[in-house]
Amino acid sequence: MSPGENDDRALRSAFVAYTVTATLWLLFATAVGVLLAYKFGAPDFAPGEWLTFGRLRPIHTNATFFGWASLALVGLAYYVAARSSGTRLYSVKLAWIGLVLFNVAAVAGTVALDLGYNDGNLEYREWPWPIRLIFLAALVITAWNLIGTVARRGTKDIYLSNWYTIGGVLWTCIIALVAILPWYQYGLGQVSVSGYYMHNAVGMWFTPLALGIFYYALPKLLSRPIYSYALGVFAFWTNLVFYPIIGAHHFLFSPLPWWLQTTAIVFSVAMLVPVWGGSANFLLTMRGRLRDLVHSYPLMFIFVGVIGYLVGSTQGTFEAFRSLQEVWHLTNFTVGHSHLTMYGFVTFAIWGGVYALLPLATGKAPGQLGLSLHFWMAVVGSFIYVISLSIGGTIQGLDWIHGQPFIESVVDIQAYWVWRGIGGALMFLSHVVFAWNVWRMSFGPSAKAAPLAPPRANEAAA
Ligand code: HEM
Ligand code: HEM
Repeated sequence: MSPGENDDRALRSAFVAYTVTATLWLLFATAVGVLLAYKFGAPDFAPGEWLTFGRLRPIHTNATFFGWASLALVGLAYYVAARSSGTRLYSVKLAWIGLVLFNVAAVAGTVALDLGYNDGNLEYREWPWPIRLIFLAALVITAWNLIGTVARRGTKDIYLSNWYTIGGVLWTCIIALVAILPWYQYGLGQVSVSGYYMHNAVGMWFTPLALGIFYYALPKLLSRPIYSYALGVFAFWTNLVFYPIIGAHHFLFSPLPWWLQTTAIVFSVAMLVPVWGGSANFLLTMRGRLRDLVHSYPLMFIFVGVIGYLVGSTQGTFEAFRSLQEVWHLTNFTVGHSHLTMYGFVTFAIWGGVYALLPLATGKAPGQLGLSLHFWMAVVGSFIYVISLSIGGTIQGLDWIHGQPFIESVVDIQAYWVWRGIGGALMFLSHVVFAWNVWRMSFGPSAKAAPLAPPRANEAAA
């Protein structure tokens, strides 16, 4: 069923609302991130109980995950699903209900954590479980709405992006449920479930949704089809087969069965198949057109995102070997990996998608200065962040291996923490500029000419 003007308007409003609220969460969560970064050098700064490191850290991680990245990716997924299927949203009402539930969960989770109510040390699920139920409800609604939208498509094939986004939302409903069921939350089994939850949150939620953006935005920006549709499908299925089994690599050398840890390592190596297959597909789609990057910031953001995916995930494979875990486990090297992937890959993918698609939806464009300031501050800032923690984390790990007193490792990493703070401040400034750009793309003056041809049914697949 072809969309009419009212349907376009409804889709645009939902897309704008998801992007704007996600941007507010990015600003909040990374302001907290910068404060946390400075606390490493000045632990007594901002001491009140509501501002302690222990409360603010999970506020930062949950707000970046479930406020920023999740909301922005769902907004993009709706837009891509409707446009690539040449139809309207299955239910505009459900999209808005989902938006309210996601935000209620994120606000309630943040307040609960700051008041000291949490579900213990279960990473990325510190929100008390009733609040996580609200998030799960929002996920179920989103899955239903995305499937309903794609089911209305006028074509036989489901475009590749929708495989990834619908797959991602469905898997995450399962993961979020497993994280709540009480009989999984005790003893050694809980450790295993924690690894399963943590890694699938990044690998089966953020990763497929971000890859879905690449598969839609890249062909659109370059006006050429994706290099290989079949390779994209192959990467989708191998991702599904290999990812769910690698969670135990977070707990190498723990009391978990040795065979489970070894299996996780083997499948961490197997992950090179979808990662290299997917990255090759994106890079080959760009082949011969790298010069166009210079003229298109959306393409530059996507290019950095693809490199972040390739390098960050490959780094993850190496990190999973026992010999390297011995050095890097529990050090700041892992924090560098987290930001190389969640920032260098997922966040850059979102930015590329928003800059490529929001102007198409609204007919309003950001200025060149805003785009370039955002891009360069984010790239340079995150480069400083990741490199300093990678070096500092390695020194930290070597100090521990050599049996140095713990305080020695703290002294040795100090300078790298200062650099992380500098990189983090640049990243935060880039987010302020991004917020300004989102404002211009959502509510600013209309662009004289739309930056790209208006989207029509299934054209990305063509
Ligand atoms: C597919 C290949 C990947 C492999 C084999 C891999 C491997 C690893 C390993 C071994 C760790 C544990 C480090 C430790 O505890 O010492 C880790 C941590 C982490 N990874 Fe990856 N990674 C991959 C891709 C990704 C991607 C694509 C993302 C984000 C979208 C990501 C996000 C994270 C995060 C956030 C952590 C920190 C978890 C924590 O809090 O302990 N990884 N990864
Ligand atoms: C201005 C930008 C940012 C700054 C300054 C920043 C800073 C920090 C700091 C200081 C920590 C605590 C590290 C520790 O406990 O040793 C942290 C953890 C974390 N942050 Fe950020 N962050 C930023 C942006 C983001 C974004 C946008 C995301 C996700 C999209 C993110 C995801 C994470 C994750 C997953 C962790 C846990 C890492 C782990 O346990 O390995 N951060 N961040």
